[in-house]
Amino acid sequence: MFSLGIVGAGQFAGQFARLWRLHPGVGDILATDLMGERAARLVAEYDLAGTVPSYEAMLDSDVDAVAIFTQRWTHGPLVVKALRAGKHVYSAVPMAVTQQEIAAIIDAVGDTGLTYMMGETSYYHPATVHARDQIAKGAFGRLFYAEGDYVHDMDLGFYDAYRYSGGENWKATASYPPLLYPTHSIGGVLGAWQTHATSVSAIGVIDERGDGVFDRSVSQFGNDFSNATALFEVDGGGAFRTNEFRRVGYPSHIRESRFRFFGTDASLEQLATVSLWQDKNGVEDITAHLLPLTTLDADDPSLAHVAPALRDSFTSGSAPVHDRSRLPAEFATTSNGHEGSHHFLADDFVTAVNTGSLPPVHAWAAARYTLPGIVAHESALNGGTRLVIPDFGDAPSR
Ligand SMILES: NC(=O)c1ccc[n+]([C@@H]2O[C@H](COP(=O)([O-])OP(=O)(O)OC[C@H]3O[C@@H](n4cnc5c(N)ncnc54)[C@H](O)[C@@H]3O)[C@@H](O)[C@H]2O)c1
Repeated sequence: MFSLGIVGAGQFAGQFARLWRLHPGVGDILATDLMGERAARLVAEYDLAGTVPSYEAMLDSDVDAVAIFTQRWTHGPLVVKALRAGKHVYSAVPMAVTQQEIAAIIDAVGDTGLTYMMGETSYYHPATVHARDQIAKGAFGRLFYAEGDYVHDMDLGFYDAYRYSGGENWKATASYPPLLYPTHSIGGVLGAWQTHATSVSAIGVIDERGDGVFDRSVSQFGNDFSNATALFEVDGGGAFRTNEFRRVGYPSHIRESRFRFFGTDASLEQLATVSLWQDKNGVEDITAHLLPLTTLDADDPSLAHVAPALRDSFTSGSAPVHDRSRLPAEFATTSNGHEGSHHFLADDFVTAVNTGSLPPVHAWAAARYTLPGIVAHESALNGGTRLVIPDFGDAPSR
């Protein structure tokens, strides 16, 4: 059993605080936030052990691990500090926003031997789980092409979320570059297909809404792309294409990540409400097998701080394709989220810390889900120039 410090008590942290509070493998849980009242509220809502005044105080405390739920561009340096202070780390996505930050995390994990896990929800997306199972059985034949899309329009909850997250200057951060949040599209593909991206060419679409978001003069990231498409070459032959769309007529409350896999013998295609398995003879509708059931009402008090349009993502439970047999009994009746992924992510981290094993999305996998997006953004900024993607290799065996 280990003790845990939650860092960043905003909109997302509560979903995981609730699960780790229930998990028999976790002891005391503390919380900290730059806005102290948010940490206090998290502690009260989930009956945690208490607050700590700052991140530095958290690292000075005797917690064994930290879980980082701060804004998406902040993770890299916080993670390295925690590892160097001797703490295991769970990090919300993305891993980091530069190659140098990723390298520093890999070095720190290598030097310390501590657990690092990135909480990539799409690793447990039902289509990814199904593709992973079918790849293991060889059912696709030779897999040679895949597609991963993270299609989430700004109007569907992100304006509210960024206002909550960014305060008065929220427009400066709401322009976060889509390709620097690449893990829900890339991770869903590579969570199934055991390869990695070696080169990329990407196209960014300059925003035309004219509301000050995705305006280079306002953007903290100098970014005016709101949609982007990237084509990656993979090791072993073949390619995958991802879309990161923030201005798109698509019902992201029904589906925000969608995947397709094509092999020489079979293919899997997913739309908003339909999932199909196909081979040279015909089509099998596998929608029901991949459908996560809703486990939490959208008006549940735990969702009070989540933008209304985002609540659907936090309420979905498991799909039939999910094998829940390894999860703690305490999770059986509690809410899940993001297509049934939260229970598995929370449990993966606990298992990794308590047994010293590598979690599925360890630092080397996280790098392969994150760095291709960073290089793709660079390609898009250079008119689609094809760029080589460095690779940090496989995880060393433990
Ligand atoms: N599907 C998914 O995997 C998914 C979904 C939602 C959010 N996320 C990720 O979760 C993370 C958190 O998202 P959110 O919506 O809760 O963000 P948020 O802005 O609502 O909350 C972040 C909180 O972190 C605090 N914070 C920032 N820096 C800090 C520091 N140094 N020390 C202590 N507190 C600090 C802020 O004050 C804020 O309260 C983001 O990285 C996001 O990408 C992932």
